[in-house]
Amino acid sequence: MAYNGNIGSLVEPDRVHRACYTDQEIFELEMDRIFYKSWIYVGHESQVPNPGDFWTTYIGRQRMILSRDDNGGVHVLYNRCPHRGALLCPERNGNAGKAFRCSYHAWQFHMDGSVRQIPVKNGYDNTRMSMENPAASMKKAERMGVYRGFVFASLASEGPDLVDWLGGAKAAFDDMCDRAPEGEVEVVPTCFRVVQKSNWKIFLENQLDALHPSITHESTGMAAKEIERQFEDRTGDAPPMSYGMLSAFTLPFEKWDSLETIGHPHGHCILQGYMGLRPSDPDSVHYEEIMKAAYGAERAEEILGVNIHHVLVYPCLSVQSPLQQLRAVRPLAPDRTLTEIWHFRLKGAPEPIYRRSLAYFYHVNSPSTMVNADDLHNFWSCQEGLSLDGGDWVSFHRNAGQDPEQDGIVTSVTGMSEAPMRNQFRAWKTYMTAGG
Ligand code: FES
Ligand SMILES: [Fe+2]
Repeated sequence: MAYNGNIGSLVEPDRVHRACYTDQEIFELEMDRIFYKSWIYVGHESQVPNPGDFWTTYIGRQRMILSRDDNGGVHVLYNRCPHRGALLCPERNGNAGKAFRCSYHAWQFHMDGSVRQIPVKNGYDNTRMSMENPAASMKKAERMGVYRGFVFASLASEGPDLVDWLGGAKAAFDDMCDRAPEGEVEVVPTCFRVVQKSNWKIFLENQLDALHPSITHESTGMAAKEIERQFEDRTGDAPPMSYGMLSAFTLPFEKWDSLETIGHPHGHCILQGYMGLRPSDPDSVHYEEIMKAAYGAERAEEILGVNIHHVLVYPCLSVQSPLQQLRAVRPLAPDRTLTEIWHFRLKGAPEPIYRRSLAYFYHVNSPSTMVNADDLHNFWSCQEGLSLDGGDWVSFHRNAGQDPEQDGIVTSVTGMSEAPMRNQFRAWKTYMTAGG
C-alpha cells in the first residue's frame, strides 16, 4: 500500500500520487466514499416515457434500473430479485408491461419495485417471508432527485439535497433546457458506449484541460481548416458550422488561455465557450426568432448569450449544454471506465438546430471520430505510464498557488491553468477522508 492507510497524504495542493489512478484498494474506497455517497446521474426522464418502461445503468458498480410506473412516477431500483438474487432486467432497456417478472421463479414486481405476486404463496406459510415483508420487494436507491428532467440517485440516506449539491453546476441543465423554446429537452434514445482503458478521473480531468486541444487535436483541426478553405474557394460561402466544430481545435494558445474556468464546491467545474455558436445563417436566425417569440426578446437574448463549453458534474458527468451533449462516467476498475455518450433534442426547436447537436455528437464525441480517438490514446497512455515505477507523482503545478477563491468558488487566472484538476482533487480528498 503506497500510502500507509493515510489517503489524505496522496493529494497535495499541486500534485497527486499515482496510486489514486492505479491502486485497487483506493478504487474500492472510491466506490464506497464517492460513488455510493454523492449524487450520481442515472438517466433522463424521457428515456422512460411510458408506463412499464425501464432502462438499466450503473451507480458505481451497482446495477440499477430507472423505471416508470402506471401513475407516471419515476423510480431508481437495484437490479436484483429479492428471492434468490437474480438480475431482474438483464436487458439494457425495454418495456416490462405491468410488472417486472423474474426469469428464474417468476416473482413479480410493480414498476416502483414493490412485490406484486409470489408464486406458490402457501409455501411461505409460517415462514419469515410474506408479501408484507419489505424484504419481498426490490430495494430502491436511498434517495432520488430530478432536476429539469435529469434523474440522479444517491445510495446514501443522508447528504446535501440534489439542488444544493449541484450548486453552480445547475448551469449545465439550465443552459441546455433554456435553449429549447419549450424549456425542456428530450433524449435521443440511443447512446454510444465506450470502455476506456484508463481510470475514470483521467477522463474528467481532460474535459477542462484547455491546453491539450491545440496539441492533441492539432492534426484534426488542421485538416478541417483545409477543408473549410477549399469549401470557401469552391462556393464563395462560409462553411457549414459543423466544420468549425473541428477546425476550432486550431485556436492559438492565447485564445485558450483567455478562457475562464470556474471551480465550484464538490469538484464541479465550468469551462467557458470558445466556438461562437450564434452564426447568422438562415436556420440560426429562424431559431432565434422562435426563441424571441417563446421568451420575449430580452430573456431570449439572455439565454442565447450564455457562453459555456463544458460543465463537469463531479464525479459522474461531462455536459456540453449549448450543443445538448452529455457523457456519463461509469467506473469499472482502476484502469477501466465505461462512458455513455448521449445527446438531446431541444423541444420546440426546428430540425436544423437538432442536426447541429447530431453533428457534434458524430464529429467530436462519438467513438469513431479522430477527436475521440486522440483523447482515448492519451488516456490509455497516461494509465500505462502511471503503472510504471518511473515516478510517483502526477503534476498539477500549472498556475498552482494562483487560484483566486471567493466563497468556495475558484476562478482560474488563465484558461490553461490546471485549477480545474486541483479543484476536482480537493473534492476527492474531502470525500475520501470523510468517515475513513
Ligand atoms: S430468483 Fe427471482 S424469482 Fe427466484
Ligand atoms: Fe480532447
